[in-house]
Amino acid sequence: MTNILLTGARGQLGTRVETLATSAGLPVTAVGSDELDITDSHVVDEFVSPGSVLINCAAYTAVDAAETDQEAAKAVNEIGPRNLARACARVGSRLIHVSTDYVFPGDASTPYEVHAATGPATVYGRTKLAGETAVRESGADVAVVRTAWVYSGVGSDFVATMRRLEAEREFVNVVDDQVGSPTYSLDLAGGIVELALRDFTGSSTFHVTNGGQASWYELARAVFEEIGADPARVRPCSSADFVRLAPRPAYSVLSERAWVTAGMTPLRPWREALHAALA
Ligand SMILES: NC(=O)c1ccc[n+]([C@@H]2O[C@H](COP(=O)([O-])OP(=O)(O)OC[C@H]3O[C@@H](n4cnc5c(N)ncnc54)[C@H](OP(=O)(O)O)[C@@H]3O)[C@@H](O)[C@H]2O)c1
Repeated sequence: MTNILLTGARGQLGTRVETLATSAGLPVTAVGSDELDITDSHVVDEFVSPGSVLINCAAYTAVDAAETDQEAAKAVNEIGPRNLARACARVGSRLIHVSTDYVFPGDASTPYEVHAATGPATVYGRTKLAGETAVRESGADVAVVRTAWVYSGVGSDFVATMRRLEAEREFVNVVDDQVGSPTYSLDLAGGIVELALRDFTGSSTFHVTNGGQASWYELARAVFEEIGADPARVRPCSSADFVRLAPRPAYSVLSERAWVTAGMTPLRPWREALHAALA
C-alpha cells in the first residue's frame, strides 16, 4: 500500500489531504512546520523514507508579505522543495509538489495550459516558480500540481470572509476585474490523493482546480446566494480600489487539459463545489 508522507499538514490544504488520505485507508505520516521545517535539509533527509509518496503542502503563502520578506519566501518556496525533492531522489520516493497560478503573468484571455510561458509578477510567484524548477531538476519522480483561489469556507479565506462581511455590512464591494478558478480545498485534496495512487514517473505538471471560471465579484455573489442573502448587496469595483503590495493577476484561469488527458478525474464545476462547501 502506498505510504504517504505529508508536509505542511496543518495548513488549509494539508489538513484536507491528511483527512482524505487517512479515510482512503492509506498509511499517512503528516507533519506540520513545528515537527518538520522543510528548509532544514538534515531533518528532511531523516524524514523521507524509501518507497513513499511525499505530498508537499508546505509553503510561504503570504503574498503581500513576501514582497518585503523575500528571503523567508525563498527559503520555504524554493529551498524547502529542493530539500524534499533531493531526499526523494536519493531514496526512490516520489514527490507531489503543490504550486500556483501566480507562476503565470496573469494577463491571458484563455486558460493557461501547463506548458504556457511563465512570468510571475510577484515575489511569491517567483519563489514558487523557482521551487518548481528545483523539484524538476532533482532527478526525483515529480508531479507539480498547480492550483488557484483555494478556499474551505472557514477561517479567513475569501469565502469565509464574504460570509462574515454579509453579517456585518449592508453592502460589500468586490473586484470584478480579476478572473480565476475558485477551488474547494476538499476537491483539490481528492485530486491529489488520486494522483498519489497513480504510478507517475519522470516529471509532469498538472493544473487542478474546480471547473469553470469566475471573478471575485461573481464568487462573492454566489456565496451570498448560497447562504440565502441578496446577491445585489455585493457591488462590483475595480482592482484600483483595492491596491495591494503584490499585484494580483487579472486572468489566471488554469486549463485542466493535461489532468484530463492523463486519465485523472476532473474536479466538479466551481459553483457545485461552493454549494457543497457551504451546505
Ligand atoms: N490558498 C490558495 O489560494 C492557493 C492558491 C494557489 C496555490 N496554493 C498553494 O497551495 C499550497 C497549500 O496552500 P495552503 O492554502 O494550504 O496554505 P497555508 O494554509 O498557508 O498552509 C501552508 C503551510 O505551510 C507551512 N509551512 C510554512 N513554512 C514551513 C516550513 N519552513 N516548513 C514546514 N512547513 C511550513 C505552514 O505552517 P505554519 O503556519 O506553522 O507556518 C502552513 O501550515 C501551497 O503550495 C500554495 O502555494 C494555494
